[in-house]
Amino acid sequence: MDIQWPESSQKGSKVSAAVIRPQPLKPEQASGNPNEATGISFQHHHNSASIVPFRNSAAPSSSLIPVSGNEFQSEALQGALPVGQNNPQVCPYNLYAEQLSGTSFTMPRRQNMRSWLYRIRPSVTSSPFVPSTQIDPERFGTHFEQDEVDCNQLRWRPMPIPEQTTNFVTGLQTICGAGSPERKEGYAIHMYSANTSMSDSSFSNADGDMLIVPENGSLRVTTEFGIMEVPPGEVCVVQCGIRFSVALPDSVARGYVLEVFGSHFTLPDLGPVGANGLAAARDFQTPVAWYEDRQVDFVVMHKLGGRVFESVQPFSPFNVAAWHGNYAPYKYDLAKFCPVNTVSFDHADPSIFTVLTCPSPWPGGVTADFVVFPPRWTVAEHSFRPPYFHRNVMSEFMGLIRGTYEAKQDGFLPGGASLHVCMTPHGPDTATFESGTTKDSHKPERLPADTLAFMFEVNYIPRVKKSALESKYLDRSYQQCWAGLKSHFPGSKESNGKLMH
Ligand SMILES: [Fe+2]
Repeated sequence: MDIQWPESSQKGSKVSAAVIRPQPLKPEQASGNPNEATGISFQHHHNSASIVPFRNSAAPSSSLIPVSGNEFQSEALQGALPVGQNNPQVCPYNLYAEQLSGTSFTMPRRQNMRSWLYRIRPSVTSSPFVPSTQIDPERFGTHFEQDEVDCNQLRWRPMPIPEQTTNFVTGLQTICGAGSPERKEGYAIHMYSANTSMSDSSFSNADGDMLIVPENGSLRVTTEFGIMEVPPGEVCVVQCGIRFSVALPDSVARGYVLEVFGSHFTLPDLGPVGANGLAAARDFQTPVAWYEDRQVDFVVMHKLGGRVFESVQPFSPFNVAAWHGNYAPYKYDLAKFCPVNTVSFDHADPSIFTVLTCPSPWPGGVTADFVVFPPRWTVAEHSFRPPYFHRNVMSEFMGLIRGTYEAKQDGFLPGGASLHVCMTPHGPDTATFESGTTKDSHKPERLPADTLAFMFEVNYIPRVKKSALESKYLDRSYQQCWAGLKSHFPGSKESNGKLMH
């Protein structure tokens, strides 16, 4: 079959997923009933049992079967997606069919995840992988056997943007983690700080999904499935195995990464909250297909079992002209989160702010939750409104995207982080406690709209990387923020003898 490539596709514009529009094909070139590619940048990701039928699908929607994530199909080139089967003897445009599975083949249907990619050359075409010389495993690594637990309250000041050339991957620094990527249980928490776009290189993680939370600078994340622009205030998830490359439209970037081994993020159940509220499935967006046909020495970096390898292939891996399936990256704008909270008294547990959860291998448990503390009204009457003092069985890593967190009036800065592990006490600092016990609690108060904090709440007790504990950005005076919490008990030596109320 003699195929004429549309001129715009041969150039493989990098501008946007929407730039490559369907080109008219000769009737004999189009196979079946091709879907029409659209000008929109994203498809909405419905991570629920409800199904949106394939757009323009030749099959009646009633023939679709329920799955936990929606089935998508997208083509950057009209007719590139085979119709009626996954693996034709010869694919349209002579593309290679390649499956990417996100779960075991025999996973129950509701959790089963896979996608089919139709690409110019298959992923297998590369030189042998060798250990990467670009990555220092002491800085970015997910083996924690040699690291220590630390039951102190820990806090880090923001890492500066590096002066030497550093991209998203070389700028990753592991803070803590637990479990094992080989056993596919556990997680790792990283921070990144970068000043250079990845050029002719990609990264993929065979150890797990990566939830990326930008704090400073947008990320332009090119994946095998399409392109996502992710500014601060939005987050994205790139799942296990997917090749991606990160460019920095703002020239600098800093943020956080939660990596989960052997499981996938999903929306939390809502229980008595009902069918609506918190993160809505319709607000998650998945990129549409985008490809480039570029012959270049391309460095493919790949993490497996905590080690980073690299290989060179003579073409860009972002060569997928069409794909379909339910295993695809997505992004989410945290401004769309609909908080649910008390309208009477007391302070609810932070679980009410869960955006995404990563279930543990046993029923009802979690490996990790991603929780956001968005701008909102606080109205609890005759209540201490800031977060209460607590010791939790889960471990908490917090970051600040912008503003001032309600429980810490200073010292917890955007780009910084704190870690309070299992049963380590923590809570509001002295100034916040004093303010929270003296404010008029009958007046509604608007938590600043310019503040956005988040938490990675994790189950396994984390070990903290030696490099993070020895970092000059570790705030060694953190515990002092509680030193002023004196006894107010009547009659005690510290007390002034007056009841607080
Ligand atoms: Fe906490």
